[in-house]
Amino acid sequence: MKILQFGTTGQVARELLRQAPAWPVEITAISRAECDFNDAQQVARVISGRKPDLIVNAAAYTAVDQAETDVASAFEVNAQSPACMAGLCGADGAAMVHFSTDYVFDGGKGTPYLETDRPEPLSVYGRSKLSGEQLVLAACPRALVLRTSWVVSAHGRNFVKTMLRLAAEGQPLRVVDDQFGRPTSAADLAGFVLANAERLAGAPVGDPHFGLFHFANAGETSWKGFAEAVLEDALGAAAPKVVGIQTAERPSPAKRPARGTLDTTKLEQTFRYRPRPWREALAEIVAELNVAA
Ligand SMILES: NC(=O)c1ccc[n+]([C@@H]2O[C@H](COP(=O)([O-])OP(=O)(O)OC[C@H]3O[C@@H](n4cnc5c(N)ncnc54)[C@H](OP(=O)(O)O)[C@@H]3O)[C@@H](O)[C@H]2O)c1
Repeated sequence: MKILQFGTTGQVARELLRQAPAWPVEITAISRAECDFNDAQQVARVISGRKPDLIVNAAAYTAVDQAETDVASAFEVNAQSPACMAGLCGADGAAMVHFSTDYVFDGGKGTPYLETDRPEPLSVYGRSKLSGEQLVLAACPRALVLRTSWVVSAHGRNFVKTMLRLAAEGQPLRVVDDQFGRPTSAADLAGFVLANAERLAGAPVGDPHFGLFHFANAGETSWKGFAEAVLEDALGAAAPKVVGIQTAERPSPAKRPARGTLDTTKLEQTFRYRPRPWREALAEIVAELNVAA
């Protein structure tokens, strides 16, 4: 089982590389220095001559606010390069795994989003990711696109590490309390991909495991609720108080969905996979950070 992975430094990329030795797969991971998605032609050059069974795209333009003024790059990285990859996948016979986001939704539905709900992105990032998922699914009949949300891990830039840094610096913790979603462990997402790699690589066109699916840990919270859980797990009784604020009190260049909560029923039924509660996954991340500290 040969996997060609794009991305080496991101949260999901690192978890894939960390867990791969436990699975019967051989991963070749391509860094940004070896293949910059700002030039989709580089993707074609890297794939040419290799014969992977599965391509996993763990690279993306994830700077949500920066994307508002860097539109061309966001689309090149999140849409054109994955589309090129998907086209070559089809030609080479490889299957593909690609990741997308809850930010394809406007957050106004009021109940968790299904894969069949109409996307209405509020930001350039959301639009570029929506374009990417559509182009990938159109170009590669054996693609699995996993929309996920609020990804965290012990590595890279993410909300858990930001909250712990602010608390360590003694900074006031004022966190948005009117945006809701489902936190997702990068480790759980990577483990899911590796556990299904062989199945995907061997599955024919039309197999129900291809297509668009939502993946997130179980349970919904607000960013404030998430912050409180992080601090409680890390600091116990010494956890500082978190003050809830409204989104309007902290304007940002990119608009976020108020409630982008993903419904994962389709994934649970098709893959017979039950996502664990986000609190359980968070506890593992905090424990890993404590060991590292
Ligand atoms: N993080 C979240 O909360 C979240 C939520 C929903 C969906 N997602 C999606 O989940 C997937 C994985 O996210 P993540 O959190 O693992 O992302 P991440 O930690 O931000 O990592 C992004 C990766 O993409 C690489 N990259 C960025 N620009 C690139 C370019 N021009 N060419 C090649 N590589 C480039 C980065 O390399 P460098 O380190 O060298 O820059 C890094 O390895 C992405 O598709 C993302 O859109 C993430």
